[in-house]
Amino acid sequence: MQLLSEPVATASLTICRTPSEMQAACRELRASGLTLGLVPTMGALHTGHLSLVAAALAECDAVAASIFVNPTQFGPDEDYESYPRTFDEDCRKLEAAGVRLLFAPSAADMYPPDNTTFVDPGEIGTRLDGASRPGHFRGVATIVSRLFNIIGPDRAYFGQKDAAQVAVLRRMVRDLNLPVSLVVCPIYREPDGLAMSSRNRYLSPEERQRALILSRALAAARHLARHGETSAEALRTTMLTALATEPEVRLDYAAVVDPDTLLPIADTSHGALLAVAAWVGATRLIDNHLLPPR
Ligand code: PAJ
Repeated sequence: MQLLSEPVATASLTICRTPSEMQAACRELRASGLTLGLVPTMGALHTGHLSLVAAALAECDAVAASIFVNPTQFGPDEDYESYPRTFDEDCRKLEAAGVRLLFAPSAADMYPPDNTTFVDPGEIGTRLDGASRPGHFRGVATIVSRLFNIIGPDRAYFGQKDAAQVAVLRRMVRDLNLPVSLVVCPIYREPDGLAMSSRNRYLSPEERQRALILSRALAAARHLARHGETSAEALRTTMLTALATEPEVRLDYAAVVDPDTLLPIADTSHGALLAVAAWVGATRLIDNHLLPPR
């Protein structure tokens, strides 16, 4: 039996459990001149996550992933305890996908009781999901900046699925002069349009069907935009009208915003982020569509 605190090497995936082990393993990789890509995750991996790994493999010599259900980005009434944890299956998927190094620390190692330093993204962190999940983006910015410090990736891969997270992290990288390039990958969807999410596994078959209204509302607004509509209010109304056809789905927000600042805009001619968040039963889902400039 191997001690948990020792790096565990399988055929090609090395699992590091502590920040110092991971830091040493990454230092060694980078010292051999390899470019390093990072895919941060909270596990319960699906094809959307693996599309980030594929993008990283296409552009980097070696790819590291992290699996850490980060307690500081969950609110007190949120699903931290029940968040799906499928570690062994995740390891198999990452190994098959070609990931070289996996960082999977414990919460106790990442947040000892005397851990008091956080990264606060400021106002941008209070918009969209940050408005309904106070403190969420402070938790995200803190853990992602620490992953960058531990791993030192040349490039880090994030999904457009979490559009507000992308805006917050881009701002953080710029404001803190972090030496890493962020690469944003497209939203990976189920064949019927539902954006893939680790939380989709919470949905009952009926809820899974109702959840389609998020992508349908976005598709309706996108259709209107393609036909020349540039009024943010008109696009937002279209999303709201579609969402109202599923009274069991409780709206959190439907917004048309600047993708960099997350502030509402009136005219979408220069591009816009259409974003929705809603509760389907007890599960909060998000989805979005990036409108290009006309
Ligand atoms: P998690 O929800 O596990 O997502 C990990 C990464 O996968 C994120 O960059 C997310 O945007 C991306 N992703 C999720 N679903 C996707 C989909 N359908 N298509 C494309 N990419 C998708 O986001 C987090 O974890 C955490 O906040 C984290 C950044 C790891 C910090 O704790």
